[in-house]
Amino acid sequence: MAPTRLTASVLRTLPLFAALADDELAALLPSIRQHSYPARRAILRAGEKSDGVYFILSGRVKILLEDGHGREMLVASLGPNDFFGEMAFVDGGPRSATVEAYGACEVLHIPAKRLRECLQNNVGAVTLVLRTVVERMRKADRKIHDLALVDVYGRVAATLLETSLEEDGEWRVGPGCEQIASMVGASREMVSRVLRDMIDKGVICRKRRRLIVLDRAALADPSSRGTRNPVKGTA
Ligand code: CMP
Repeated sequence: MAPTRLTASVLRTLPLFAALADDELAALLPSIRQHSYPARRAILRAGEKSDGVYFILSGRVKILLEDGHGREMLVASLGPNDFFGEMAFVDGGPRSATVEAYGACEVLHIPAKRLRECLQNNVGAVTLVLRTVVERMRKADRKIHDLALVDVYGRVAATLLETSLEEDGEWRVGPGCEQIASMVGASREMVSRVLRDMIDKGVICRKRRRLIVLDRAALADPSSRGTRNPVKGTA
């Protein structure tokens, strides 16, 4: 796919820059760099110093927390028009997480100094950054809640519900076992045991290596999860 050509009108499609005047956008353009990344390539790593903020033009990225021994947790995934790298931009601290391309993706990089100048006269853009950070915090709170208070069975059930899409009359789950494990913060072995239990109960099935949800109501029913469920555990 040909890379997107960066122009003032492309920049204006990003919500943060929508309210800028033409001359402000034109002044910003020369300092913005466009990068393409293949699938699974790290765009920035946890602990690094900040060099600016990134905006996604196309594709998706994963926000990952890693333990340095090969285990990782998927904290969030972001797509077109989203930005990342704002945390180190705001507080000057190190990058809080690793950001990796899901599939091929295109991003724009704006140096911190230029973005700061641009936000100075743009209350709307500052409010948007704040609102986005608050939304992410709410989601992170929900994740902390689930990690602390919902068992692995319940977390897997919720993830299957969230990530399944109806196609040709069946509810097909996007991620596989390994990805679900990284989303729910449990080991692959534990998740695979939970999935096997769900298959045995007829709640899901495997078709051409893909998980299919057969009984959404059972997955959504908290009484079929939690401490009363035979498959328990937290990791
Ligand atoms: P920064 O810390 O500069 O670099 C890593 C980025 O990952 C961070 O900024 C945010 O943009 C993003 N990030 C970190 N935690 C979350 C989260 N819980 N939800 C969404 N994005 C996050």
